[in-house]
Amino acid sequence: MILEAIQYAATFPVTPAQFRPSIRSSVNLWARAGRCARDWSAHEAQCQAFIRETVAGMRERRTAVVLGSGLLRDVPVKFLAQKFDTVVLVDLVHLASVRTWLKATRLHNTRLISRDLSGFDDVLAGRSAEPLGFLRQVPYLDLVISANILSQIGVGAERRLETEKNGDVTVVPKLIAAHLDGLAGLPCTVALLTDTGFRVSDRSGKALEEADLLGGIAPPAAAAQWPWTVVPFGEESRDYQVVHDVIATSAFGRFSADRG
Ligand SMILES: C[S@@+](CC[C@H](N)C(=O)[O-])C[C@H]1O[C@@H](n2cnc3c(N)ncnc32)[C@H](O)[C@@H]1O
Repeated sequence: MILEAIQYAATFPVTPAQFRPSIRSSVNLWARAGRCARDWSAHEAQCQAFIRETVAGMRERRTAVVLGSGLLRDVPVKFLAQKFDTVVLVDLVHLASVRTWLKATRLHNTRLISRDLSGFDDVLAGRSAEPLGFLRQVPYLDLVISANILSQIGVGAERRLETEKNGDVTVVPKLIAAHLDGLAGLPCTVALLTDTGFRVSDRSGKALEEADLLGGIAPPAAAAQWPWTVVPFGEESRDYQVVHDVIATSAFGRFSADRG
């Protein structure tokens, strides 16, 4: 609790005012990632391996952008900083510990951007959302990594809809589709890492609850997939665990057309 309070207090002044409401959830993620490090390590290693493989197949390595860079756990940022001229890390919040680590490791070619990548305000206002449109302004863009942010866009939108007592069930699918269409339209290499759904199960393995995390929108075909025990037994309860299904892909070629 004390470390969380310090993390929060140190992050507050370096975070633009409009993103400060999101600091609490980033600190909570950081605390959970620390507690669940052993259970999350295989997932993080798979994500990093997929990014390394994707980069290995690239000829030009000028600018890489990471969407949902967060705690830099599933992103091999040192590797990216070695391979690319510039690495841009985009998230609602960059925790003080992440900023300190980047300085300490002297990754001078990394840039931090605080940005809402959801398109929520546009969709709510009835406009078509183009949350990744800003990437058109990024010079020499060769790689974009969507790093386990997609489902969180939906989770964050559901939270905001609930707060605003808005029952519009089309918002989350629109946001998920806007992110996927944005990735599909990029003129560079793309790596998508995302959880697509989860299963709550008891100690006998019986499923207690299952749900989709992408608002019913089908993601592109997976090049790799694996389970991620986000909530191991003992984290929220002794009696259940929550396992997410994760996919990784770089193949967006026919994605939009396939979805019609
Ligand atoms: C599961 S975490 C990703 C972990 C991260 N890739 C890592 O390596 O540690 C999801 C991240 O998405 C970010 N996020 C969620 N909604 C967002 C939004 N609308 N705009 C920008 N970032 C968002 C969260 O702040 C969080 O850091």
